[in-house]
Amino acid sequence: MSSERILVTGASSGIGEGFARAWAAQGKALILTARRVERLEKLATELRAQVPVELIAADLSQPEGVDQLVAGCQQGPWTIVGLLNNAGLGWQSSLAQTDPAKVAAMLQVNMSALTMLSRAFLPGMIARRQGFILNIASTAAFQPVPYFAVYSASKAYVLSLSEALHEEAREHGVHVAALCPGPVATEFQEVAGMEPRFFCPQPIGG
Ligand SMILES: NC(=O)c1ccc[n+]([C@@H]2O[C@H](COP(=O)([O-])OP(=O)(O)OC[C@H]3O[C@@H](n4cnc5c(N)ncnc54)[C@H](OP(=O)(O)O)[C@@H]3O)[C@@H](O)[C@H]2O)c1
Repeated sequence: MSSERILVTGASSGIGEGFARAWAAQGKALILTARRVERLEKLATELRAQVPVELIAADLSQPEGVDQLVAGCQQGPWTIVGLLNNAGLGWQSSLAQTDPAKVAAMLQVNMSALTMLSRAFLPGMIARRQGFILNIASTAAFQPVPYFAVYSASKAYVLSLSEALHEEAREHGVHVAALCPGPVATEFQEVAGMEPRFFCPQPIGG
């Protein structure tokens, strides 16, 4: 059986879960990660009817969580041929009124973890001249968004990083891209404490 795996961060809900389902339907074997293990187990049980699926729980708001995820992937008999850097969160508030711990978590998950996971898996992809990294940015990457300032700035970082890495990687046969969704109906809005009047999300696939 092939050891090739696509690593999906933030697979326990929303867009990450949607990608996991779509790739499983295409026969792509997966490693799923997030914090909520029971959610991952439920999804994995379902998708294992189609493809091999591994789980590695990790809290990407902690640098140690990123290290544990990388170590877990590298210790297994797997080759990471694709990385979906999807895990992310926002928080609707002025920076002055945002809990500093929430600010730190946003920066760590949205930017640092995404960057360090790319750093961990790009060399192998380059050596094999095969692979892809897909980073989930946002339409918020294209303009400053007051009361979503850290989130939108973090997504501008993701877009800029992705465009630069695209150039660095493509001569090695590796694809790097950013996806910039508009509003999608997921748990994002609840996690972000958003008021419904600010948001008209579309369901996944809608
Ligand atoms: N929904 C939208 O309108 C929209 C629009 C543009 C871009 N995006 C982006 O799309 C991506 C996915 O968001 P979504 O809409 O699917 O939201 P979601 O349903 O809230 O999913 C977020 C995912 O990120 C994971 N995550 C959050 N904090 C984490 C942490 N500390 N460690 C590990 N995993 C963590 C969550 O898993 P656990 O909680 O189980 O850890 C969950 O699987 C995000 O990067 C978001 O910024 C969303």
